Amino acid sequence: MKAISFLLIISFLFSCRTSTESVSVKEVNVQNAAVVTAHPLATEIGLQVIKDGGNAVDAAIAIQFALAVCFPRAGNIAGGGFAIYRERDGTGYALDFREMAPKAASEDMYLDEEGNVVPDASTRGALAVGIPGTVHGMDQLFQRFSKLKDWNRLIQPAIDLAEKGFYLTEMQEDDLAEVQESIKKINKNETPFTVQRNRGEKFVQKKLAQVLRAIQQETRLGFYSGWVADEFVKTMENNGGVISHLDLLHYKSIWRAPAEFYYKNHRMLTMPLPSSAGVVLPQMFEMVSQYNLPGGGFHSPTAIHLVTEVERRVFADRAMHLGDPRFNRVPLFNLMHRDYLLDRMKDFSRDKATPSSEIREGVFTDRETMETTHFSVVDDEGNAIALTTTLNGAYGSHLVCEGGGYFLNNEMDDFSVKPGVPNLYGLVGGEANKIQSGKRMLSSMSPTIVDYPNKSLKMVLGSPGGSTILTSVFQVITNVIDFKMGMHEAVQAPRFHHQWLPDQIIMEQGGFDALTKKALEEKGHSIREVESIGRVEAILIEEDGTITGVADKRKDDHAAGF
Ligand code: DON
Repeated sequence: MKAISFLLIISFLFSCRTSTESVSVKEVNVQNAAVVTAHPLATEIGLQVIKDGGNAVDAAIAIQFALAVCFPRAGNIAGGGFAIYRERDGTGYALDFREMAPKAASEDMYLDEEGNVVPDASTRGALAVGIPGTVHGMDQLFQRFSKLKDWNRLIQPAIDLAEKGFYLTEMQEDDLAEVQESIKKINKNETPFTVQRNRGEKFVQKKLAQVLRAIQQETRLGFYSGWVADEFVKTMENNGGVISHLDLLHYKSIWRAPAEFYYKNHRMLTMPLPSSAGVVLPQMFEMVSQYNLPGGGFHSPTAIHLVTEVERRVFADRAMHLGDPRFNRVPLFNLMHRDYLLDRMKDFSRDKATPSSEIREGVFTDRETMETTHFSVVDDEGNAIALTTTLNGAYGSHLVCEGGGYFLNNEMDDFSVKPGVPNLYGLVGGEANKIQSGKRMLSSMSPTIVDYPNKSLKMVLGSPGGSTILTSVFQVITNVIDFKMGMHEAVQAPRFHHQWLPDQIIMEQGGFDALTKKALEEKGHSIREVESIGRVEAILIEEDGTITGVADKRKDDHAAGF
């Protein structure tokens, strides 16, 4: 096993030159409440809400709006996401505020006359945008579960951040510098993200502050109608997009029954369709439970081989069978049936990789760059929320709402733009995930909550990373349950991923030793190394009741608690 430090790692990332606002803490061990998000400012805002008497949902709403300001790469008001909420008594809820295809969307909207995919059409600019769900989702969460019942209070920190500005972390400065050219190319006008400013100077977003104020005053109508909607639709019209006023007004987030399943007596709650988590995760856990996963040892060739072979089979099903259940009959019963999953592993060989060309989806009657963000909160009453939210790619479509100063998503690319053609994440898809007006695009986002066998709360987690979200969440859970790691070690451990197509294991560079890689190659696997996989924000309630919040070491992520 790799020696991974258990030390409380406080990495003082003095990520901005002129301020100490962005010190990033990677682990906290506390007694009452914990918050872990991708940005120190958002974490502190969420925690303060709990200190002021709010619950996990109140904190989540404040964090979502704060991230829209301080983490524009993925935080958003014009994206979407999913939340899994577990009340202290164990009752679970799932909120789907995923984007939807606009009325004018059609199956061939990204194809040219010859039927070929027009490069970048589904990823850049106005046509890539799905109807945003975030503001509707936050409103629903507030109405059903807020304890503070003070919407103004929850939005105010985001307004202050936008209006007074804040210091970007070093990583954020680099990141924004990298996308300057693309943002300039996509937008006809100057945007807050392309205005000339010196590094280390506060980043102010006045227009966004006005939009947030409209949302503060009128809740969801402040976004889906009035001047904010006018600006949104004007941006569409000026840039060849198709989202109309009616599309905005008709958007609805949906309460769903969480996908619930058990692994080694631990109940897991995760997001059902249109997230693939509710199918892929139970399939994976059921398939590995037929074997002795920890037997080979952590990151042994045996364990990596087993998980890879499971992933290969599960992702073939994802590609061909999964999509918005309102539009397709998804054979859920068959896909989850134990006999089917046993049968699926019949051709598994302990010694040899099965080429993906020999694996098809199960027969009965994705391409997803990168950014999404996840946060986890446990409040001082024991309620927990796991929320993953996204613009899809980093900075979404790179198009900024003209009068609004915020990025618009490029979630339409999560549909299968053309059968067999991979999306941003290399995922392929079929009929089940084709574009249809009013449909929600298939997702991999996997906000997940795990209980102990005695039914008390154990883990709250999730990650960005497109298709690698599913396998990152799977690995962190098995690191804790099977490999008996503490949460810090489980989150910081190197990750790997296989998604059927392309037929390769991607592995974090420097994370796996040469002998392990050689052994896998000898079994027939091909390996590609990548800089990093996933960005997990997780909380573990230890058996003695200590709450351990862990922020991924891979970026600026920050944990806090009390
Ligand atoms: O819903 C999905 O699966 C994707 N839109 C998520 C995108 C993502 O995680 C990008 N992150 N790094």
